[in-house]
Amino acid sequence: MQVRRLSLTNFRNYTRLELDLPAGAILLHGDNAQGKTNLLEAIYLMATTRSPHASQDQQLLNWDAMQSDEPVIVGRLVADLLRPDGPRHLEMRLIVEERGDWARNGQSAFRREALVNRRKVRLMDLLGHLRVVLFLPEDVELATGAPANRRRYLNVTLCQVDADYCRDLSAYNKVLEQRNALLRRMAEGQTRNSADVLQVLTDKLIEPGSRVFQRRAAFVTEMAREAQDIYYQDLIGGKESLRLGYLPGWYSNGRKTPDDLLRDGDRLQEDPDVGRIAERFAAELTAARAADLARGASTVGPHRDDWAILVNARNLGQFGSRGQVRTAILALKLAEIGWMKAATSDVPILLLDEVGAELDQHRRNALLAYVLAQVGGRGAAQALLTSTDPGMFPADFLTQATVLRVREGRVTADG
Ligand SMILES: Nc1ncnc2c1ncn2[C@@H]1O[C@H](COP(=O)(O)OP(=O)(O)OP(=O)(O)O)[C@@H](O)[C@H]1O
Ligand SMILES: [Mg+2]
Repeated sequence: MQVRRLSLTNFRNYTRLELDLPAGAILLHGDNAQGKTNLLEAIYLMATTRSPHASQDQQLLNWDAMQSDEPVIVGRLVADLLRPDGPRHLEMRLIVEERGDWARNGQSAFRREALVNRRKVRLMDLLGHLRVVLFLPEDVELATGAPANRRRYLNVTLCQVDADYCRDLSAYNKVLEQRNALLRRMAEGQTRNSADVLQVLTDKLIEPGSRVFQRRAAFVTEMAREAQDIYYQDLIGGKESLRLGYLPGWYSNGRKTPDDLLRDGDRLQEDPDVGRIAERFAAELTAARAADLARGASTVGPHRDDWAILVNARNLGQFGSRGQVRTAILALKLAEIGWMKAATSDVPILLLDEVGAELDQHRRNALLAYVLAQVGGRGAAQALLTSTDPGMFPADFLTQATVLRVREGRVTADG
């Protein structure tokens, strides 16, 4: 799949951009703070509906446009795609209205609209049209950071290929929110009819929650196979083993060790029968009832999931050197390409932000060779790479890539 044309209006430092993009590898280079990452962010946003940064939505709109006196400010992102099944037109609108309100209370007047082939759809239905794999220097935090990062990774990746997963996740989160609100009220002593309602909400978690567990376990299993091969064969030459472990969020009151959880995850991966997962989840919810009431929050469920990367059976997030972490994350990301290809029969668009800077020459060349092998030749796929320093790229890469220069929110052909 490829983005043939990208149009941005009032998005970050792009007041107006009309950019035609060829297939194959595209290198965007330029000094710091010119708009390289913002361009990748725009494509990522249309693929996933989320920003890779944990920034507020209205920060996506151009600052100067936000300063104007207009009552309504609109940012637009438009992508013309070429997919194996034909062209597709995607649009996302970022809209800020009622400036007075917006000034008074944060996000309230911000909304987004999504259009596919010029017809309005729900934001969620933008997913699955454009698929990307994003490499960011800060991806090392997937190994070392908080579990919320790793859950977010599962969700963003799975939602791009699996609309059912995304629906289940959103249904689960809705019930979870209601259940947590009820538990909070109960913890404060408001107990009229609450036990019955709690039971109803608990039961409603089980179906969507079990499917989320199941789909994540399957994803980790599939990714583990790919990542292990890439790590072992392409990146480090057979010295260490890499494994991905799933740690389901159904431990009772945190009494289990990470090893117990890994074993739980292994069992779940070996026996991903959704009926049996539902039985187990129901039992965990019952066992956690007292703890939930005491804390005023739900203590078991996919919202407490985690997964880990293990190198030579040790958790990389705790014991890995920085270089080991980087290499393992690279293997993971490359595995994601293969996984997405297998799941959709199409190559996702690769977005690589300054990733070369974090890697030594051997791994950088391995990565670039991998990228060219994915997108080169057949002319159907696309990779966008950014760099402040095109000199870092080997000559044979540069001759095969389209080189563009980014300066102050404008993109021009090199030379
Ligand atoms: N909402 C916004 N409106 C206008 N400018 C913005 C907005 N958000 C970010 N910027 C600015 O856009 C500029 C380009 O940012 P970007 O992250 O794309 O730079 P970059 O080319 O990737 O630089 P680096 O090489 O340092 O990573 C920055 O100066 C940033 O402050
Ligand atoms: Mg950048």
